[in-house]
Amino acid sequence: MHYRNTTVVITGASSGIGLEFARFFAREGARLVLTGRREAVLAQVRREALDHGAASVDLVVGDLARAPVASEVETIAAERDVLVLVNNAGFSHYSAVADAETRPLLDMLAVQAQLPVRLCHAALQRMKREGRGLIINVGSLAGRVAVPGSALYVATKCFIERLSETLALEAAPHGVVVQALTPGYVRTDFHRDVENYRERRRNRGLIRWMDADAVVRCSMRAAERARRRLQSRPGRIPRRRDVVIIPGTANRFLAAISPFVPRTLVYRAAAARPRM
Ligand SMILES: NC(=O)c1ccc[n+]([C@@H]2O[C@H](COP(=O)([O-])OP(=O)(O)OC[C@H]3O[C@@H](n4cnc5c(N)ncnc54)[C@H](OP(=O)(O)O)[C@@H]3O)[C@@H](O)[C@H]2O)c1
Repeated sequence: MHYRNTTVVITGASSGIGLEFARFFAREGARLVLTGRREAVLAQVRREALDHGAASVDLVVGDLARAPVASEVETIAAERDVLVLVNNAGFSHYSAVADAETRPLLDMLAVQAQLPVRLCHAALQRMKREGRGLIINVGSLAGRVAVPGSALYVATKCFIERLSETLALEAAPHGVVVQALTPGYVRTDFHRDVENYRERRRNRGLIRWMDADAVVRCSMRAAERARRRLQSRPGRIPRRRDVVIIPGTANRFLAAISPFVPRTLVYRAAAARPRM
């Protein structure tokens, strides 16, 4: 698909995976709407995107857990002719539920569960009318395990994967592709609160760190494959491998074997895992 002059909304585009999506769509000549909290960083991303060919770049700066900021993005998704939506914004908050303040827990629900639902709902109306569109919801392989200290993170990522699979089935008859992008470990700013996080990003066994641009290339290849398949035979049921995208061979292997590993062993591994 050519994305020239297509309006693309990307939440969390100031670094990491969202930034790489912004770079991809900028090179395609799209009209970008980018969000993030770090205003100066986003302004730099805007300059870079325009230099690389973006037709226009609008910024929404602020915390997406706050109602006015979330509503602003939702209005854009509903009122502009958005044909690509990337629900990517996410953060880590490490604490056992019993020891946590309620605010970060609820903020995580707002940013990583509620907002993607609101933006999908808003953008899908237009996409259905146009008979085309692409929604990428960024989940995580962490959404398939239990990780002490990250209950809300794990729960929201599990939610995103199931939500996206169901939306993919609902949207396919209208020519709209929905993808659950489900990465393992990725080198981004995500783990910046962890002490010495750069040094700790080492491959160990089946734990393989990926670069964000490789994750985005994998996502976009899969999106194109899914779009062609839908176009070649409208009404076709999407294949799961075109809906749930797991970048990286080691990650796909882990995902394939994990249903056969006794859950208690998975619990043990999760409990023994150092924080990352
Ligand atoms: N890195 C990994 O290992 C990994 C693995 C699996 C899945 N993921 C998922 O990938 C997605 C992108 O993360 P990343 O790894 O690229 O990390 P990142 O570099 O930290 O990027 C996260 C983006 O989300 C934005 N964001 C976070 N919380 C926000 C809030 N409350 N309001 C507004 N914007 C917010 C950040 O903007 P500001 O910082 O400017 O606010 C930033 O642009 C997340 O959903 C994450 O869960 C990451």
